Amino acid sequence: MTFNLSWACVLVGCISASLAGAYNLSDEFPPLWKESPGQFSDYSVENGKYIINPWNYSERIGMYKILLAQTARYFEKFAPEDEQNILWGLPIHHGWQYHSGRLADPTLRTDCGHDSGDPLCISVDSWWADLNYYLSTIPFLAAIDSGLMGVSADNVILLPPSKDQTNFCYNVSSCHSSFPEAMKMWNKFYKCAMSPSSSFDDLLKYMWDAMFHPWSLLVRIFRVGKNKPNVILL
Ligand SMILES: *[C@@H]1O[C@H](CO)[C@@H](O)[C@H](O)[C@H]1NC(C)=O
Ligand SMILES: *[C@@H]1O[C@H](CO)[C@@H](O)[C@H](O)[C@H]1NC(C)=O
Ligand SMILES: *[C@@H]1O[C@H](CO)[C@@H](O)[C@H](O)[C@H]1NC(C)=O
Repeated sequence: MTFNLSWACVLVGCISASLAGAYNLSDEFPPLWKESPGQFSDYSVENGKYIINPWNYSERIGMYKILLAQTARYFEKFAPEDEQNILWGLPIHHGWQYHSGRLADPTLRTDCGHDSGDPLCISVDSWWADLNYYLSTIPFLAAIDSGLMGVSADNVILLPPSKDQTNFCYNVSSCHSSFPEAMKMWNKFYKCAMSPSSSFDDLLKYMWDAMFHPWSLLVRIFRVGKNKPNVILL
């Protein structure tokens, strides 16, 4: 199985860094990684359900943090210290989006994501933020669905953005109905990860399929739905 790294670079920037396996985790953590939620109990709880606001950078990066922690054991056989967990590319990329101001409101109609307002706010008007929604919540909810997160699907609720609510999905069942293929592909990836006989190449392939699928789907959606999709930046 061959995997074309240069395509990964084109597609999602620094995701390639972690795929190449050549980077130093200790100095490459995304911004605010240590302070962000790292377990479900760090989020607020209402009626026995964890409430996650993916429109807050800290809470979104926290979903990755839980995902990385819960999948670490499946990557131990490839390298120590979770260094070969290919999911690292996702939070690293999101951290870069945050650090470079790409998650802030580009229209400047609100101060969402800007230093003058709430710097942690993720704007639904940011095209980057909207695309990343699918590369954070779908892998996260699919992991819950695959049974590797230790919580039941009914116990986690994601909060909607202030507008454009119908572009997104908020729980395992609604994501299955809105984005069935993407959920299915992430489920396949986790199933492969949990299998003791899986190879690193198999995992790369399944992750590639899962990432690529929603991504190409979204380019279509946002071409229709947003005025300025910068497809070239992908
Ligand atoms: C990774 O970074 C840490 C802290 O900056 C440093 O101590 C360590 O030697 C680095 N490891 C490698 C393999 O470069
Ligand atoms: C964003 O999330 C963090 C972590 O849950 C929380 O401490 C912070 O208050 C939140 N910010 C806003 C504006 O909700
Ligand atoms: C999941 O989301 C859908 C649509 O947003 C909602 O109708 C449904 O009640 C939610 N299910 C759970 C278990 O929260």
